[in-house]
Amino acid sequence: MAIKHQALFFLLSLLVLTFIDRSFAGGIAIYWGQNGYEGTLNDTCTSGNYAYVNLAFLYKFGGGQTPEINLAGHCNPDSGGCTILSSEITYCQRLGIKVMLSLGGGSGNYTLTSTQDAKDVAEYLWNNYLGGDSSSRPLGDAVLDGMDFDIELGSTEYWSYLAMYLLEYSMEGKKVYLTAAPQCPYPDKYLGQALDTGLFDHVWVQFYNNAPCEYTSGNVTNLLNSWKTWTSSVPASKIFLGLPASSDAAGSGYIPADVLTSEVLPVTKTSSKYAGVMLWSRYYDLQSGYSSSIKSSV
Ligand SMILES: *[C@@H]1O[C@H](CO)[C@@H](O)[C@H](O)[C@H]1NC(C)=O
Ligand SMILES: *[C@@H]1O[C@H](CO)[C@@H](O)[C@H](O)[C@H]1NC(C)=O
Ligand SMILES: *[C@@H]1O[C@H](CO)[C@@H](O)[C@H](O)[C@H]1NC(C)=O
Repeated sequence: MAIKHQALFFLLSLLVLTFIDRSFAGGIAIYWGQNGYEGTLNDTCTSGNYAYVNLAFLYKFGGGQTPEINLAGHCNPDSGGCTILSSEITYCQRLGIKVMLSLGGGSGNYTLTSTQDAKDVAEYLWNNYLGGDSSSRPLGDAVLDGMDFDIELGSTEYWSYLAMYLLEYSMEGKKVYLTAAPQCPYPDKYLGQALDTGLFDHVWVQFYNNAPCEYTSGNVTNLLNSWKTWTSSVPASKIFLGLPASSDAAGSGYIPADVLTSEVLPVTKTSSKYAGVMLWSRYYDLQSGYSSSIKSSV
């Protein structure tokens, strides 16, 4: 009887939590770092438009390589120049914004060659970007909120191990958030196995540069079908609609803001897994004002 009551109480608590959670609007995640003309990280966070900032990218790691970050014209990591971002990262975090390091990207030199390699990369990331210690932290003392997996090349294996090893560090205190940016064809070629583990907190699916599952010339059918597949298949509680922030930001898949707010968001929001919109990237958003035009509807 007691156990039954406890179970009931637990279920009710979950319902209440779910209700509270759903009473909040979605958030916008933005990629920052690949264009020197997109303004500072501080300005990006001060805009008030974003709940998550993904620093893009750690473009080189795995296979025994010394990992390297690339932040385009923002700073030169070789001379320790990117430690200037430390105060900006903590500033963003004080505003309640989660700041992630994005691993991978569309071009780069990264892979994982074994479970041991995954373990070594996780240890490196913990010591250099998360709560661990290293004498050469590329972004200084700031402790990032977690790691974003934007894996578009290299090995199709071992990403689930990297996720698992990273998550083990959560036990040392601060939670390590894991996010992922798979391409919309389901399942994702590189991240499929990793996503199946259910270890990822947020999944922002790239509904662009992928004709079979994106918005095409006035037609939302393929996009919404793909959204349905993702929300019903991937074991993650928070899924975001990943979109280009302007028509120049991607080869295809751009959705005009009025179409997004009138024809897409009303449908995607009916899923309890809907958690907001991810945009590529801050540079294009700054040019187009896309996040400002959609923010009240996200
Ligand atoms: C970012 O803004 C915070 C708060 O105003 C400030 O303390 C910090 O120095 C700024 N960082 C840079 C590099 O401008
Ligand atoms: C990637 O790294 C390998 C090993 O260090 C190197 O041989 C190769 O030239 C690199 N490729 C690029 C595109 O940087
Ligand atoms: C939209 O696309 C779907 C899938 O390709 C197609 O079946 C449908 O006819 C299209 N609708 C319009 C109005 O073109």
